[in-house]
Amino acid sequence: MLIDQHGRQLRYLRLAVTDRCNLRCRYCMPAEGIDFAPRSALLDYDEILYLCEVLADLGIEKVRLTGGEPLVRRDLPVLVRGLGHLFPTLAMTTNGVLLPKYLDELAVAGLTHYNLSLDTLRSDRFFAITRRDEYEATRAALTELLRRGYPVKINVVVMRGQNDDELLDFVELTRNNAVDIRFIETMPFNDDDGNHDVFLSYTDMLERIRAAHPDLEQDTGRGGSSVGFRIPGYSGKIGIIPAYSRSLCGSCDRLRLTPRGTMLNCLYSTKGLELLPLLRSGIGREDLVDLIRAYVHGKYATGHETERREQQGNIFASMTSIGG
Ligand code: GTP
Ligand code: 5AD
Ligand code: SF4
Repeated sequence: MLIDQHGRQLRYLRLAVTDRCNLRCRYCMPAEGIDFAPRSALLDYDEILYLCEVLADLGIEKVRLTGGEPLVRRDLPVLVRGLGHLFPTLAMTTNGVLLPKYLDELAVAGLTHYNLSLDTLRSDRFFAITRRDEYEATRAALTELLRRGYPVKINVVVMRGQNDDELLDFVELTRNNAVDIRFIETMPFNDDDGNHDVFLSYTDMLERIRAAHPDLEQDTGRGGSSVGFRIPGYSGKIGIIPAYSRSLCGSCDRLRLTPRGTMLNCLYSTKGLELLPLLRSGIGREDLVDLIRAYVHGKYATGHETERREQQGNIFASMTSIGG
């Protein structure tokens, strides 16, 4: 088992398979992209599967594929098939642009849960936020996921002055659709100067939703990254993710692996465990396990503490190099 110094058992791996993306969301990356990792700097599929086998033995039960956009990594279904033999739950966070093309293959490989990033329901705004003209493709992915009966969560990064006037439109989507809409606080993980001005807190979002829906009920015991709510009679659910406020750290069970093979024990960690050079220098399995256990043990109580103890300025140029 992987247990940290606060007694939390880690069961969930967020596996970022690429730092590349086919969109350029302003809160995530600059227009020109970042200094993307060359292929040789990425863990290859054999290395990922070896690490995952070790982690499965250590009690990891769920893997979420992230990126960048995971589907831009070549032959992703091949990796997913390998992971399907190791973990009971396989999930993916995607912008959906390439998803319909891969859905059949991914289903066979064992992918069962999708989180779809969609920050606006207006096609003209989609371009302003993502700098790419892919609104229709993303909506088509949503339609297809719902048609196939997947449990879908929609991630909405809420930005003051950009899409915060759509909160209630997204809430309305839950009336007749069995979707889980999650509103996310923006995090300052990029150099986009607009990030601070656009921040809208968990509390502000909740107040706005409650003002329009006084009958909003809290959905207790759902766990995970969001606090859940629902409106009586509506088919779907609503969640708010305090990504920046970090009020849910007490029950955190997450471990992260970046595309370059850095293990992170917190989203806000800047001190990772560099696994790629260790693997390539032929480290033995027992030594590897000892290092991972020791690193996990050091996980701080909250992301605030992690940041305070580790951070002298954010070393990550973009969310896309961490995997969210
Ligand atoms: P599930 O709970 O498995 O559905 O996944 P998730 O909601 O954690 O994953 P997703 O990739 O959809 O991420 C949604 C948002 O939550 C993103 O903005 C993530 O950066 C944020 N997030 C995910 N995990 C954490 C975490 O451990 N801490 C914080 N502060 N934010 C997180
Ligand atoms: N703040 C909050 N959420 C972010 N995401 C990416 N960058 C940020 C940020 N700076 C979200 C994406 C995706 C998830 C993995 O993380 O929208 O849904
Ligand atoms: Fe876990 Fe760190 Fe996120 Fe808190 S900020 S929920 S400790 S990963």
